Amino acid sequence: MKPTVSLVTVSLLFAPISFPGPGAETLTGSSLERSWRNDQKAYGRKGAVVSAHPLASRVGLAILKRGGNAVDAAVATFLTLAVVHPQAGNLGGGGFVVLRMADGRKLALDFREMAPLKAHPKMYQDGKGEVIPGKSLRTAQAVGVPGSPAGIYHLWKKFGKIKKWSQLVYPAHAFAEKGFEVDDFLARSIRAKRKTLGLWPATREIFFRKGEPLRKGDFLIQKDLAATLKRFADGGPKGFYGGRTAELFEAEMKRTKGMITQKDLASYVVKERKVLEGSYRGYPILSMPPPSSGGIALLQMLHILETWSLRDLGPGSAQELHYKIEAMRRAYADRARWLGDPDFFKVPIKGLLAKDYATGLAEGISPTQASKGVEAGLPAGAPPEESRETTHFSVIDAEGNAVSCTTTLNSTFGNGQVVAGAGFLLNNEMDDFSSKPGVPNQFGLVGAKANEIRAGKRPLSSMTPTIVLDKKGEHPYLILGSPGGGRIINTVLQVLIQVLDHDLPLDLAVRAPRIHQQWLPPATYWEPLAIPADARRKLEGMGHLFQKRPSVIGRCQAIRRDARGRILAVSDPRSGGGASAW
Ligand code: GLY
Repeated sequence: MKPTVSLVTVSLLFAPISFPGPGAETLTGSSLERSWRNDQKAYGRKGAVVSAHPLASRVGLAILKRGGNAVDAAVATFLTLAVVHPQAGNLGGGGFVVLRMADGRKLALDFREMAPLKAHPKMYQDGKGEVIPGKSLRTAQAVGVPGSPAGIYHLWKKFGKIKKWSQLVYPAHAFAEKGFEVDDFLARSIRAKRKTLGLWPATREIFFRKGEPLRKGDFLIQKDLAATLKRFADGGPKGFYGGRTAELFEAEMKRTKGMITQKDLASYVVKERKVLEGSYRGYPILSMPPPSSGGIALLQMLHILETWSLRDLGPGSAQELHYKIEAMRRAYADRARWLGDPDFFKVPIKGLLAKDYATGLAEGISPTQASKGVEAGLPAGAPPEESRETTHFSVIDAEGNAVSCTTTLNSTFGNGQVVAGAGFLLNNEMDDFSSKPGVPNQFGLVGAKANEIRAGKRPLSSMTPTIVLDKKGEHPYLILGSPGGGRIINTVLQVLIQVLDHDLPLDLAVRAPRIHQQWLPPATYWEPLAIPADARRKLEGMGHLFQKRPSVIGRCQAIRRDARGRILAVSDPRSGGGASAW
């Protein structure tokens, strides 16, 4: 590759830039006690990028400054995350983009992983039909065929402005080749996942030094990943789904009894889908259709909640929380039953999004009692496990082109397996299928026929990349999304409500404590301060069950552009992301 941007130029462009904002605060204690670092909020007029890593956001901004549009910036940010945020940034995973171009074009791009050609509904069950614990999470059979390289290339080809593909790959390549400093967040994630990562020799070589997980301040160099990026830069998707990378991928699968072959890789297809469109209090909302459940559940909840004036009820009041919890319960119950890959199962999208359906659901909500028997027909799920990773970033440019992208390996570092010689981590997205009706996945989410495993099918997701337009439908007003498995949809919902109903400035809306209810299990989780003590007593009196959540609910990366064109980008202080703007 002959990069047109030299490494020196890259490092100059990415020198820290200071923006107005609150003073930096020491990052101590649990992530819920954190406030913003200086680079987690950024103000501008010409564009912004906000992502889970400050370096990735700065790369995106540098691309905007060099004449790229929001799509070019998104592609370069995506690839940089694959290097500097290996917990979820990826080449070996998949994701979704909701895009709105300034000329009005809209697209939902689906580059979700596909089940391998040899996959079948009972692949995670033993001879007695019991689900084998961990098989869909920690083995080579947990891996779905990655969609990310095909997805971002497709996006650039169709909407990008920068002519040369390799220019967008180059910053990521430079960080892989020359290295970068491991921050506190990455060091903690590696330590937390050391058992899973330690299982795989090629993974140990990258994330361990002298048998110990990398620490904060260590330098992480990823030569094999750099070589893979170079093949991708030179050959586009053929440089990933074919040639040397595909050979290494297949060899890794053979060695570890995985299912994916070169034929699977060559068969991967990106899908352009129609953006899911709805509205809330007059604001047009664009979000992700199936195979994500995110857009449908989000719009369903918003439609139900339009019945009441949440503003008059007041943020954090018992009544406001009651209606939110009940709306969540109903949308997640429908998620479990009706949602799956639309290419394999007829998802009743129109029915679920009809306003009179939402009105009927709202009428079924008692103002004074928690509901017990939300129609289900499935057994109760186990409580969700903690801290599963995915990552979201948002981008806007001077013309008003907007990209909302959520991407994932599923668990933090996916199944923990690095493709030997190719340097990238693999996903364990197959766990997002229903391994057996009613048996919960790692997020405690249950599913049914709609989400059963089939060869070539895409597992149901909760990723909710979303764009809200101004009331005239002319300009992007909010661009947002979050990681957090099943908690993603409720995170996006609550940030929207804080802004659209309660008029909170975006930074406070992102910071505001959140709740999470997903139908099964029946308890509602809450972050500290999300439910004032007197409201909780009242809600318990109405029959609500609560469980304090030991970890955070979502980590939102959001941008707001006001009517005068002023942009504020906010990275959730719950983690170590960064916002860049100009
Ligand atoms: N793997 C998390 C999701 O797609 O919802």
